[in-house]
Amino acid sequence: MKNFDLVIIGAGPGGYIAAVRAAQLGMNVACIDKFVNQESKPSLGGTCLNVGCIPSKALLESSELFAKVGHDFIDHGISVSNPNIDISKMQSRKQKIVNELTGGVAYLFKKNKVTSIHGHASFVGENESGVIIKVDNNGNSEEVCGEKVIIATGSKPRSLPNLPFDNKSILDNEGALSLSSVPQRLGVIGSGVIGLEMGSVWKRLGSQVTILEAQDSLLATADKDIATEALKIFTKDLGLNFEFSAKLGDISIKNKEITISYQIGDIPKKIVVDKLIVSIGRIPNTDNLHCDKVGVAIDERGFVKVDDNCQTDNPKIWAIGDVVRGPMLAHKAEEEAVAVAESINGQFAHVNFNTIPWVIYTSPEIAWVGKTEQSLKSDNIPYRVGKFPFAANGRAKGLNETRGFVKIIAHQATDEILGIHIIGPFASELITEAVVAMEFKASSEDLARIVHAHPSLSEVIHEAALAVDGRALNM
Ligand code: FAD
Ligand code: NAI
Repeated sequence: MKNFDLVIIGAGPGGYIAAVRAAQLGMNVACIDKFVNQESKPSLGGTCLNVGCIPSKALLESSELFAKVGHDFIDHGISVSNPNIDISKMQSRKQKIVNELTGGVAYLFKKNKVTSIHGHASFVGENESGVIIKVDNNGNSEEVCGEKVIIATGSKPRSLPNLPFDNKSILDNEGALSLSSVPQRLGVIGSGVIGLEMGSVWKRLGSQVTILEAQDSLLATADKDIATEALKIFTKDLGLNFEFSAKLGDISIKNKEITISYQIGDIPKKIVVDKLIVSIGRIPNTDNLHCDKVGVAIDERGFVKVDDNCQTDNPKIWAIGDVVRGPMLAHKAEEEAVAVAESINGQFAHVNFNTIPWVIYTSPEIAWVGKTEQSLKSDNIPYRVGKFPFAANGRAKGLNETRGFVKIIAHQATDEILGIHIIGPFASELITEAVVAMEFKASSEDLARIVHAHPSLSEVIHEAALAVDGRALNM
């Protein structure tokens, strides 16, 4: 049995980053991962690189360009008649990006002398050297021992009761990302992040998209102003069809057609679609991990139970990323990975959950960090708001991307920034200024007095900061 200073289970953004950081710190590290791609080949990088963040962004870009050629180029005087999209070429481009990045993780492991082991890991028990883990790979098995262990097994899509994913008609994220043609009618259950991003992709490529959502509004956790603006844009400009407060009934598949019965209030309704994406959240991966054999507790929702430092009930075992509490985001997994590797090495490490940014890669993009106006209201915290539209920004006009705004919320008495909310072009990039400002406990006045390049989209943040004090200059 091989012994390691640290064994990591899972090579997603949590696991592979922990492996690299621990190796940088001089530890002898092994990382076990079971993911295989559509060609049945092991592929490092987890959900994020293989079937999540990266492929979805590749398809979002392709579909946006297609929509721009069809609708926006004409404003620039560029005419293209009958633009066409080759879905198989679009998918090959996506896969090439995925292969480059997953291959990049293999390269990083080699460079940092991380031992990469393919197979399903499960806990066996403990001996005097550490924690024993069994790795099963196609009938072959081996055991390894880690003085310390990090669980980074991620999450998987939640299915509807009695409606398993087949990735032919009923699609999870993997199926939604690998369609080989554009479905004429696409149904989506859940208007969360995956529903909006995948719904946008296939709508722009030509599908008629209906999204059924259990809640009575869009993006309940986002700031209300942002959610209202998003709904307006997604329905009027993009043409997504939402059904809120939808209570699902029977879902049946016949002759490749899926019939979904649902109710809104007392009114029974029905839609028929060619493909159905079910995106109703994700659940932590602890199947056959045998956490009980090493005293690692699982909470009532299935997450590995950890304290603020990602430590489990077993002092030799930590857990990070989607398999533990907190937002299911790649950058959250990565920061926990670095913090745990460094704290195992005896350093002080901390992840600030208050400044984790959220981004939704729709068009326009949505991004935020910190508190929403509604949460401040319910906590009785006094605040001031500054808002500025992209429509009054020169760079946004040049880009033909004038929809949306920046909203800054600052404490009424101290002026400390409590939240920044953006819907607009490149919100995913702009939000970093907000994160830095909040991490350094900036006031809105600080942002108002920082020089922002002209013409740039960041000037909208500058103006929103000025607007907190009622002195926006270009409005
Ligand atoms: P994962 O990436 O899920 O990796 C876990 C790995 O562990 C997997 O390879 C799995 O096969 C392996 N594993 C599980 N159990 C075992 C076992 N017993 N033995 C061996 N290996 C095991 N987040 C963002 O921040 N930005 C985005 O734009 C974004 N887009 C997304 C789009 C989609 C469609 C989806 C589905 C998710 C997206 N996410 C995004 C979320 C992001 O992918 C996750 O938060 C992130 O991948 C979590 O990282 P992780 O390391 O915890 O787990
Ligand atoms: P989600 O949690 O974002 O949204 C799920 C939606 O489904 C909610 O609006 C919920 O009310 C609805 N829902 C639940 N049950 C339902 C039912 N029976 N009928 C109708 N609606 C129902 O989950 P999603 O979209 O599956 O994404 C999972 C996670 O993946 C996200 O929470 C996020 O952490 C991550 N992700 C992040 C991305 C990003 O950062 N850009 C992109 C995609 C995913």
